[in-house]
Amino acid sequence: MSKSFDVIVIGGGPGGYVAAIRSAQLGFSVACIDAAQNAAGAPALGGTCTNVGCIPSKALLQSSEHFDHAHHHFAEHGINAAGVTMDVPKMLARKDGVVKQNNDGILYLLKKNKITFFHGLASFTGNADGLYQLAVKGKVNEAIAAKHVVIATGSNARVLPGAEFDELNVLSNDGALRVGAVPKKLGVIGSGVIGLEMGSVWRRLGAEVTILEAMPAFLGAADEGIAKEALKAFTKQGLKLEFGVKISEVKNGKKGVSVNYANAKGEAQTLDVDKLIVSIGRVPNTNGLNAAAVGLQLDERGAIVVNDHCQTNLPNVWAVGDVVRGPMLAHKAEEEGVAVAERIAGQHGHVNFNTIPWVIYTSPEIAWVGKTEQQLKADGIAYKAGQFPFLANGRARALGDTTGFVKILADATTDEVLGAHIIGPQASELIAELVMAMEFRASSEDIARICHAHPSLSESTKEAALAVDKRTLNF
Ligand code: FAD
Ligand code: NAI
Repeated sequence: MSKSFDVIVIGGGPGGYVAAIRSAQLGFSVACIDAAQNAAGAPALGGTCTNVGCIPSKALLQSSEHFDHAHHHFAEHGINAAGVTMDVPKMLARKDGVVKQNNDGILYLLKKNKITFFHGLASFTGNADGLYQLAVKGKVNEAIAAKHVVIATGSNARVLPGAEFDELNVLSNDGALRVGAVPKKLGVIGSGVIGLEMGSVWRRLGAEVTILEAMPAFLGAADEGIAKEALKAFTKQGLKLEFGVKISEVKNGKKGVSVNYANAKGEAQTLDVDKLIVSIGRVPNTNGLNAAAVGLQLDERGAIVVNDHCQTNLPNVWAVGDVVRGPMLAHKAEEEGVAVAERIAGQHGHVNFNTIPWVIYTSPEIAWVGKTEQQLKADGIAYKAGQFPFLANGRARALGDTTGFVKILADATTDEVLGAHIIGPQASELIAELVMAMEFRASSEDIARICHAHPSLSESTKEAALAVDKRTLNF
């Protein structure tokens, strides 16, 4: 006789554990199953985000930024930090500690919300009498059942054919977060979010980093003005970026990795590196789920097919996060998890895809929400743009970080904010105000009339809003 629940959530990443908590808050009996384990074999809740994604990458970005500041910026403040060195194993141990705190925190949250946790791999075994049956294979094998199933099984790094990950020399995001010593030469394939963030970590620590990108242009999803400014800043820092390349062969040898490729002009090139990160996107993960047992529909990419409400082709089976369409972002997964739990409860949970913020945690940080200038042009929407540089912001000068700007795009007729783009210090925090403005359908004038603290970076947001009406006060 299997244990039965109202809701079973498969996956304990940001999509899954949040769906489980919200379901429990709404009064359901809930189980959450997650297969991830740490080096000691203990549960490692939090998914890609906590174990090999958002959290560890931000820990390493912070450590490497401190090191970079000590080397290049402390002297400006009169601080003599000559002879500062980097203890990479200690940095990695700190990162592992941060990950563990988050793993344990999520386990605590499941307990607090009276969610039954199963540590193991879940697969469908069938459905009968309105209940879906699942097998959990772990240290203990279980058979469980529920009326509703929420699938949040996430994604895995895409493999470049011929460059399979060994996590020693050819690294996915997982290996890239565990490099035990600073490589002299680091190659990165793909100049997307992981390539830029992980490339920045190891460049700051002293590696010579070359990024090879297939597309002819940089950061295609970002606003073109932002991408241009970012390329300028990263190149100045010493990141080498090549665009329009075609990789022909990756040789993983004893002494390192050789990448043969054609450059944008079609000329044959070789890049020899000690380590190679391959970050060319991620693929939805339905491994082990046994989708066929219940007839769960997948698309040609292997993603679970869902409608706008995260409903699959099966009644009462839902899917959220990286395993379905849409941006592969932790906060998108969380929003979908909440929306699904509320829909199961008969409420009207909804995710507004137009106000999901994007953040790239490089230095300068890059953040945006809504439409880019190129999208507005392509859609034939008349708009006004207002831009304000951090160079003219007192707080940015005091911080010693004046790269970049805030740009606000507003409808030419109604003045409604249609998009906002930031490159510069604390862009990840500054974007929140603009996400809220868009959620409340604010106009640029609404933002311009709000009192912002002085001196603060957020004054640049107010000034960018004033710039939409060509009336900045400080530029
Ligand atoms: P996941 O987090 O992948 O969780 C899925 C979980 O399900 C895993 O624990 C897995 O073990 C488990 N699982 C899978 N199949 C089964 C099964 N059959 N049975 C039981 N358990 C199963 N996003 C951001 O928003 N901000 C960032 O800064 C950011 N940084 C990132 C940095 C890196 C290096 C990477 C790789 C990703 C980053 N992301 C970031 C993306 C973010 O990690 C994902 O969008 C997010 O984790 C997706 O959440 P999820 O719940 O859909 O899936
Ligand atoms: P990505 O989609 O951001 O970038 C992949 C890049 O690789 C693209 O520029 C693509 O053109 C390029 N590429 C693809 N095939 C190639 C090839 N054969 N040769 C050379 N270049 C090639 O994917 P990435 O960086 O792997 O990250 C995966 C996802 O993880 C992101 O899209 C994002 O959703 C998430 N993530 C989010 C972060 C954040 O929110 N700060 C941080 C890191 C990851």
